[in-house]
Amino acid sequence: MKVMHVDASAKRARSNSRALSRYFLERLRSEGVDLEVDYLDVSVDTPPHVTEAFAIATYTPASERTPAMKATLTSSDALCKRLLEADALVFAMPMYNWSVPSAFKAFIDNITRTGLTYVFTDDGGIEGQLGTQKVIFITSRGADLRPGSPFASMDALTPALKAAFGFLGVADPTFVDAQPLQFSNQEAREEALERARDELAAVASRWAQAEPSSQQNEAAAAL
Ligand SMILES: Cc1cc2nc3c(=O)[nH]c(=O)nc-3n(C[C@H](O)[C@H](O)[C@H](O)COP(=O)(O)O)c2cc1C
Repeated sequence: MKVMHVDASAKRARSNSRALSRYFLERLRSEGVDLEVDYLDVSVDTPPHVTEAFAIATYTPASERTPAMKATLTSSDALCKRLLEADALVFAMPMYNWSVPSAFKAFIDNITRTGLTYVFTDDGGIEGQLGTQKVIFITSRGADLRPGSPFASMDALTPALKAAFGFLGVADPTFVDAQPLQFSNQEAREEALERARDELAAVASRWAQAEPSSQQNEAAAAL
């Protein structure tokens, strides 16, 4: 399984979302899934923000782009290629100010591309091109935004991700949300992380069931 794994936390060793995304990949491996991982840390390799040149180039039909426009789109083209070549997308991020970390938003702005990650159909519709990938969002939140909590209505992260990736054809992404973390006591944090790990283990198991195992792949390669 070719996985594109994207982390977005500004924190490194102390990051919970990074630890959970690593845990998820470990679980997939321990379920026997043969993983090829394409890793991107958008907090380090942050895709460029939208510029005027990008805004013009991206909506100019590919056949009419000048060499300068093509150059403007090169890194975005490469990111789209990485997504389209993956079988599965693992996106991990913290909630920042109720929504997506700005580095991940820059990523979204770079991968939402006419003619690449979505296309216009003959009947005037729009067809997202990420409809075949398995997709999981692993999010970490300081507060508890689960239904019934006073913060539940503040969750602008989940709908933002559903809209952006739904447009690209991701109809039914999986969400594993670790909450509450930073703004809770030690016991509640540990429970939240345990709940998230349990959910991740269950998702890894589901993904593994649909995949040939590494042993099967080795056997096939030996034939
Ligand atoms: C700049 C900043 C903004 C934050 N905004 C929110 C927020 O709006 N709601 C929330 O529940 N937690 C918020 N948090 C807390 C983080 O979401 C939480 O600590 C999370 O576990 C961080 O994930 P990480 O450990 O992977 O970095 C914020 C943290 C930072 C650093």
